[in-house]
Amino acid sequence: MVGPELRTRRLVLRPFAREDAAAIAAILDVPDVGRYLLHVPKPYTDDDAVRWLTSWTRRWLLGRGAAFAITRRGRLCGAITLAVSRVHKRGELGYWLGPDDWGDGLATEAAAAVLDWGFRDQGLMRIHAQYLDDNRASGRVLEKIGMLREGVRRAHIKKGKRLLDAHQYGVLRQEWEARWQDK
Ligand SMILES: CC(C)(COP(=O)(O)OP(=O)(O)OC[C@H]1O[C@@H](n2cnc3c(N)ncnc32)[C@H](O)[C@@H]1OP(=O)(O)O)[C@@H](O)C(=O)NCCC(=O)NCCS
Repeated sequence: MVGPELRTRRLVLRPFAREDAAAIAAILDVPDVGRYLLHVPKPYTDDDAVRWLTSWTRRWLLGRGAAFAITRRGRLCGAITLAVSRVHKRGELGYWLGPDDWGDGLATEAAAAVLDWGFRDQGLMRIHAQYLDDNRASGRVLEKIGMLREGVRRAHIKKGKRLLDAHQYGVLRQEWEARWQDK
């Protein structure tokens, strides 16, 4: 498939391939992974993964963002996406990893790289993200990459039988630049 490649200290963020579908499905079918994600049907099949990949290929070709496979030493660990709105010069970040890779700073490492790519390469003015309910690990990732908490949309997302709060985070280009200069 098509798209950019980014490298971090431990990771290669590369375009997805059609052959990744089974590995994607294996991760997203784990209940603990899908719990706080939107649009993850149960069970999650290889066909669902192919549809997801196709939608991101289309987005990339339209200049509306990219999905990266998060890989470490050649192994697929998860995904990170940036959905771009050209009109508003903003991007929305999303990510997930298989449980074996949680707790090792990988999401933060991948998210920081995609944030840099969004501002530097895509010329965005704002990048935002949300986490649902009590998914504090995701909230920490967003804080660690320099996003500010912007508020909470209460009972905003219906997941199963529950209406979940959606916690909003964002960072502006000038805030990212200031942080980058400090490094
Ligand atoms: C959310 C997710 C991506 C985090 O990945 P990760 O690689 O473990 O994240 P990191 O190690 O980079 O950072 C996690 C941080 O959250 C903290 N954390 C973990 N569990 C926590 C909890 N229950 N409460 C508070 N903080 C928690 C960690 O201590 C760490 O912070 P620290 O570095 O200050 O100690 C991963 O758990 C995941 O894929 N979950 C399922 C999918 C998902 O929810 N995606 C996000 C949708 S918004």
